[in-house]
Amino acid sequence: MNVPHIPGAPHFAYRGTHLYIEDVRLSDLARVHGTPLYVYSKASMQSALAAYQRGFAGRNVQICYAMKASSSLGVLQVFAQAGCGFDIVSGGELQRVLAVGAAADKVIFSGVGKTRAEMRDALEAGIGCFNVESEGELEVLSEVALALGMRAPVSIRVNPNVDPKTHPYISTGLKGNKFGVAHERTLQTYQRAANLPGLRVVGIDCHIGSQITEEEPYLDAMDRVLDLVDAIEAAGVPIQHIDFGGGLGIDYNEDTPPEADALWSRLLMRLDARGYGDRHLMIEPGRSLVGNAGVCLTEVLYLKPGEHKNFCIVDAAMNDLPRPAMYQAFHQIVPLERRGGETISFDVVGPVCESGDWIGRDRALHVHAGDLLAVMSAGAYCMSMASNYNTRGRAAEVLVDGNQAHLIRRRETAADQMRGESLVN
Ligand code: LLP
Repeated sequence: MNVPHIPGAPHFAYRGTHLYIEDVRLSDLARVHGTPLYVYSKASMQSALAAYQRGFAGRNVQICYAMKASSSLGVLQVFAQAGCGFDIVSGGELQRVLAVGAAADKVIFSGVGKTRAEMRDALEAGIGCFNVESEGELEVLSEVALALGMRAPVSIRVNPNVDPKTHPYISTGLKGNKFGVAHERTLQTYQRAANLPGLRVVGIDCHIGSQITEEEPYLDAMDRVLDLVDAIEAAGVPIQHIDFGGGLGIDYNEDTPPEADALWSRLLMRLDARGYGDRHLMIEPGRSLVGNAGVCLTEVLYLKPGEHKNFCIVDAAMNDLPRPAMYQAFHQIVPLERRGGETISFDVVGPVCESGDWIGRDRALHVHAGDLLAVMSAGAYCMSMASNYNTRGRAAEVLVDGNQAHLIRRRETAADQMRGESLVN
């Protein structure tokens, strides 16, 4: 029997013929809760976080989980309980972190398009820092803060113009991207911020992209940001913290990104060499904390052999797991119960009425209708990007801790979806 590659080991592994998450058999969860079903390993999240903590041992660092990767309350709770801060990008995300009792002063607010209402709510909640992305935003934030009799803590997101060598849709630190303030305009922008009465400059930040699997783009970005800190401080604006963003990749298809601790040991050596070793640091990892901790379980509905292609039609679709349709992303697909026998090449597709609705292409599988499959590495940017397209309810979610399984989100019903809509009388 050929053994498929299982990203997320050791928290996901076959015991005999059955795939387990920690000490729970995944097929048992699928039977109890139905499919499509997201299942997460708490131990996997904790061990991903521990790798960062090891890398930063003895340093003054705030890890702010970029919750856009997975924003369900039960997942946020794991990171809040571990003392993490959060990187948010909307008023909705702010409500979520407050709902899990996270410390507001450890929250940073990123994103190019914050509204006045979002700024007000975040100021009133007492968040730690606004990561500002344009001069226009600086002016508005200053006005909003003054109207509340406050001064908003700000960091300016700089665009270091380095190539993260990742998919173009998730590369954010190049000149042509909408993100951050251009390298050349950074000093002027800091001077402007320092003179606005409603602002208090506290930091600098960058984020160059996502699913980065090499060390070099990080080292380049760090050098460019530190050059800017040199220049900004020389111009008389002190920078208290430096935030290096997120972006570290995970294993989807035998990818081998650096381990968080190894990466940060290297980066900290560079930071020390440049004389910034004592500075308060922040990072905003998302995918690398949760991506390999989750799977999406799905049932095979029909096999549809064809002249050119064989289709394996499953009950999870692009609305549940949009990454393949959006980025041609690869997710490993494995059976919950392994069987011997000949494999056939299938395109694994969902029920949504779009040709773009596929989960995996050209996959060698030995499957029958009724079998259960796991879409691996589905802990990040899958459930959090799910939609209701085709009026499909969003999947349920389960968090596993050892041999315990907790339902952290029930399956969405059609009534849930129609709540808030009304007929015209
Ligand atoms: N900080 C900022 C400002 C960001 O924009 C992001 C992600 C992060 C931190 C976290 O990056 P991470 O550590 O997760 O790479 N939906 C895409 C990924 C979009 C990433 C957006 N920004 C995907 O499914 O691949």
